[in-house]
Amino acid sequence: MSTLQAIRGMNDILPDEAELWEQFEELVRDWLRVYGYRPMRMPLVEPTPLFARAIGEVTDIVEKEMYSFTDSLNGEQLTLRPEGTASCVRAVLQHSLLYDSPRRLWYMGPMFRHERPQKGRYRQFHQVGVEALGYAGPDVDAEQIVMGARLWDDLGLTGIELEINSLGQPDERARHRADLIAYLEQHRDRLDADGQRRLHTNPLRILDTKNPAMRELVEGAPTLMAYLGEASLKHFEGVQTLLKDAGLPYRINPRLVRGLDYYNLTVFEWVTDQLGAQGTVCAGGRYDGLIAQLGGKPAPACGFAMGVERLLALWADQGNRHERPVPDVYVVHQGELAGRHAFRVAEHLRDVGFVVHLHCGGGGFKAQMKKADAAGATIAVIIGDDEARANEATIKALREDSGQRRIAVERLAETASEWILGNECE
Ligand code: HAM
Repeated sequence: MSTLQAIRGMNDILPDEAELWEQFEELVRDWLRVYGYRPMRMPLVEPTPLFARAIGEVTDIVEKEMYSFTDSLNGEQLTLRPEGTASCVRAVLQHSLLYDSPRRLWYMGPMFRHERPQKGRYRQFHQVGVEALGYAGPDVDAEQIVMGARLWDDLGLTGIELEINSLGQPDERARHRADLIAYLEQHRDRLDADGQRRLHTNPLRILDTKNPAMRELVEGAPTLMAYLGEASLKHFEGVQTLLKDAGLPYRINPRLVRGLDYYNLTVFEWVTDQLGAQGTVCAGGRYDGLIAQLGGKPAPACGFAMGVERLLALWADQGNRHERPVPDVYVVHQGELAGRHAFRVAEHLRDVGFVVHLHCGGGGFKAQMKKADAAGATIAVIIGDDEARANEATIKALREDSGQRRIAVERLAETASEWILGNECE
């Protein structure tokens, strides 16, 4: 029988890599705490209309990338979440979290998009998402951007550049959109198939085209920035002032429009040229209309999410090596009485804080000692029936030649500490 395989674009994360993920997650948790963000955990499955309403009917995600299905028990339309913002806002509204104060929230976990898999682009991928709800000023936008820079620093990552833009407000975008459609209609014959399709549904996305044949056309199009009113410009300047104060370099990219419809005012992306085609490691912006759109009392909000696989690929490419954790102690034993004594000794050593691998699966002392050595343990604790009867154990240093000693179990933890510390000090 052939063995079963994981679904294309959905990856197993094996121990060496998973330990690197944990290292990354620990760093991320510390970083979020420093900024006062609190954790959230939302379901992986949500009602389909949530995403259609939040992300937009005519976006790539909703049109063709969602894993949607009908619940066979009650006929409900459900979707594996393609992103976290919609779920987070849904949860905040459902539990009235904005009732008394604004909120800084974050979440981490898998997202699902039916995209064509390639390096850095998966069908199940992971995001760390950061959402500030109930804050209107440019200070939160700037703080979230500066947060990114701090995390790259904490991770020791270099070569990640910041691009920002302002998408203005819906009325400003509507006027720009009308003029943009008029311009593109004049040049209809130069639009590719995607462009033709998006002309009346999502013309802004045409500006985001990767098709070099349309570059000139796109460059001559009216830019949204020229349609921004005083308040939008002031907000954008507010963000930029704080970024400059923080000494953070950025590039204004007027073609940065994002693939989700809920954004207004500030949008930003962190990009690197070190990952090939999928170089955006983190992206987000303001979404002041979404809370009301999902049925809540209108409240402003701003957030971003980073792609964990992409950041970890960069982290590894830039020399961060995973270090396999090693036990302090490996307990070897032979004989029935010895087995039971070893079990108790291992638990006793764990009680006082040692990382202990108890040999399981039998075998002679020689073979077990080989395993102890291969595990990278600092010391071995050796127990035979003799030791078991005397409530003793033999302790042997594995990383240096300091012999071995038989001692009472009561003195084992203390001696092990001395040996392990002695070993670490050298
Ligand atoms: P997004 O730009 O769709 O935004 O995704 C954010 C990040 O997730 C991307 O920059 C990328 O690093 C990663 N990502 C997206 N799709 C994939 C994929 N197929 N494979 C691997 N990584 C991927 C959002 O999802 C918004 N919810 C961000 C946000 C939060 N805006 C406001 N709050």
